[in-house]
Amino acid sequence: MSFIVAIDGPAGTGKGTVTKILAKKFKLINIDTGAMYRCVTLDMIRKGVKLDETDKIIDILENIKIEFKKENDKDLVFLNGENVTEKLRSKEVTNLVSQVSGVKEVRLSMAGLQRKMAEGKEVIMEGRDIGTYVFPGADVKIYLDADLDERAKRRFKQNREQGINIPYVEVLENIKMRDENDKSKEIGALKLARDAEVVDSTSMSISQVVREISAIIDKKKKEIKLQAKIYKPRKDNAWKRFVRCIVRAVLVTAYRIAYHVKITGNVPREGAYILCCNHINYLDAAAIVLFNKRKVNFVAKEDLFTHDILMWLGHLFDAIPIKRDMQDIEAMKRCLKVLKNGGLLGIFPEGTRKGMEKNMKAKNGAAYMAIKSGVKVIPIGIHGTFKPFSKVYLNYGEPIDLSDYKNQKDKLDEATELVMNQIKELMEKESTN
Ligand code: DC
Repeated sequence: MSFIVAIDGPAGTGKGTVTKILAKKFKLINIDTGAMYRCVTLDMIRKGVKLDETDKIIDILENIKIEFKKENDKDLVFLNGENVTEKLRSKEVTNLVSQVSGVKEVRLSMAGLQRKMAEGKEVIMEGRDIGTYVFPGADVKIYLDADLDERAKRRFKQNREQGINIPYVEVLENIKMRDENDKSKEIGALKLARDAEVVDSTSMSISQVVREISAIIDKKKKEIKLQAKIYKPRKDNAWKRFVRCIVRAVLVTAYRIAYHVKITGNVPREGAYILCCNHINYLDAAAIVLFNKRKVNFVAKEDLFTHDILMWLGHLFDAIPIKRDMQDIEAMKRCLKVLKNGGLLGIFPEGTRKGMEKNMKAKNGAAYMAIKSGVKVIPIGIHGTFKPFSKVYLNYGEPIDLSDYKNQKDKLDEATELVMNQIKELMEKESTN
């Protein structure tokens, strides 16, 4: 399974150090993309290739071999088979790399290589454009930042520890120049991704930064695990049908004890239909599912599945989880499959409880699917206070044919309104009962 952590940010923010620790902690493959640009730069310097010699740069890119290896717990970089880890940090490479990384051909080639290196793997990648350009869909996006002075101080200290003697002013100027270059690149410029978490390390220790990012990664891993649990397809086998039968009997009894359920109309014994109901309480979907002789696959918001018992019930009754804040194509496909197989699909067009009362516009999903699949909509009006022992009215209407709206995408609102008007009439029907 692929899992990508993108750590972007300007030079000197501690990306390298933090990434190494996180890679070890979460067992992620560490890909230092800056080192890849440094490899290209070193190769160009050695071969005497200038920035405007595009053909020669392309030749280098076509033949370059960059490898990351771990030896005695040390991260090493190999360029065409040679260990160049130390050489990549030399003054010559550092002064030129920012410009090299701005060459279009270099960027396209390195981004392609980075994507290939990460394919199907669990990786942590540090760089400038990982969360914005290389992997815009990365699972975790961190933008690590720090004040310019602080970054220059860190880089100066790091150089000294490595025996590289570059005066502080020069380090500062170099970082400034790189910031400018990094931010003004034609492709893959350094910028904050919309969905990235910003971590400002100016007054933080390494361990504080690691702790903060670890919490973000942990949270994402939990979310992914939960999503897998929610969306894992479950077969409707004999055992499941048996359990559903027992659970249904128990819940129907409980429902009948708690409420006086009055039902008018019903659903044809066979054939695909979309059941559209108003939504006043969490228990109204249960009423439709439980008091129906046929199985109803209800569309339910994803959040409901985060509760263990509701998730179990949801899967038992084959409810379809849906992400409400986006166009959920997967959920739509599952709904259409139910209809194609001649089943009943339950939807609240209001999208949320008491949407009509709040004057919210009904969603077009039900009308869209009805028109797309040629299936009729059965409107249902539900009415009740859901106070213990009160009456709950469930009024089924006649199937509505929306086939006249086929090929009229601009009239979806009208089709939805037609359904909603029928639902409103059926809601009011209880007062005459
Ligand atoms: O992180 P570093 O200092 O090793 O990066 C070296 C250079 O490469 C730096 O000037 C910015 C550039 N770079 C880039 O443009 N895109 C990346 N994803 C990583 C680094």
